[in-house]
Amino acid sequence: MEGFKVISLGIDTSCDDTSAAVVADGKKILSNVVSSQTFIHKKYGGIVPELASRRHIEMIIPVVTESLTIADLQLKDINFIAVCYGPGLIGSLLVGCAFAKAIGFSNKIPVVPVNHLEGHIFSVFLEHSDLDFPFISLLVSGGHTCLYVVDGFGYYTELGKTRDDAAGEAYDKVAKILGLGYPGGPIIDKLAKDGNPKAFNFPRAYLPESFDFSFSGIKTAVKLAVQRVLPNIQDYSLEDQIIKDFCASFQSAVVDVLVKKVEWAIEKTGLKKIVLSGGVAANSHLRAKMAEMASERGLNLYLPSIPLCTDNAAMIAAAGYHQFLSGNIASLDLNPKAYLPLC
Ligand code: KG4
Ligand code: ZN
Repeated sequence: MEGFKVISLGIDTSCDDTSAAVVADGKKILSNVVSSQTFIHKKYGGIVPELASRRHIEMIIPVVTESLTIADLQLKDINFIAVCYGPGLIGSLLVGCAFAKAIGFSNKIPVVPVNHLEGHIFSVFLEHSDLDFPFISLLVSGGHTCLYVVDGFGYYTELGKTRDDAAGEAYDKVAKILGLGYPGGPIIDKLAKDGNPKAFNFPRAYLPESFDFSFSGIKTAVKLAVQRVLPNIQDYSLEDQIIKDFCASFQSAVVDVLVKKVEWAIEKTGLKKIVLSGGVAANSHLRAKMAEMASERGLNLYLPSIPLCTDNAAMIAAAGYHQFLSGNIASLDLNPKAYLPLC
């Protein structure tokens, strides 16, 4: 590839998306293929781990092949393979790791292990290569809700994290309660646009004196309100105003807490840059409210575009680039880890 020094193949199979990407110098996306499994898990109202791993096995070769074809490259052009080895569903992670090691070993391509959370944090560099350290990072996904100070690649201080449900998990559970299907985030986001955020006053768990989060209380509050107001929830559809009001009121409570915690982090650290990442960072209300707060306080807000918020392999390649430069190459005994804290 002319003009670029290091070409990487990123692989992510941590949850329910099979993804492969080709990225040049850790920042230029040449391809980013995501094969969604939503159609498989939808009818169960959540991810079924065994079905997820089986689908990864079916899709890993076609997805990697497509990512190389779109980039117009072959395996011999790849300088390293960045593979997500955790945290995530162990069976799903195993597929990506085993595949990366197999093609790496047989083609003599080094394999670099990447933490999924680090991938999310670094997704922003794929579109904002001008961003410099330090910054506040809010990572909000289906499995995680964490607030970090990022001082450099590999230098993270965790200010707080969720004590129970992740923000995306709360969206998914509330969608299930309202009979809206899986995943809940995008549908609640859409319905909330026509709903009244003040229709229900759901609790905001600010947890003063702490940067931790808690979203299980709000989920329970929604459940109790639905039982009280709509005892026959099956009679309602997403066309009904009351369902839109539930969505808007729930979303407004979640977003108020997320914005407030970032404001506190800014006040504590004096930092001027905020980076969002993870599937919930795709939420239109969160993006708007965070932008409003940032502009009132004269802060710079960096948001990945929507496809880079949800799981994708380009972000794994972006974080892997730094690991590769620092010589962190995996050996053949690399094993995936379901639990893998960032710091
Ligand atoms: O980052 P991600 O793709 O996977 C994990 O690492 O967990 O995040 C998936 C989560 C799901 O819970 C989904 O409901 C949520 O992100 N999500 C959203 C939106 N799009 C996806 N939540 C709120 N608003 C959205 N627009
Ligand atoms: Zn993720």
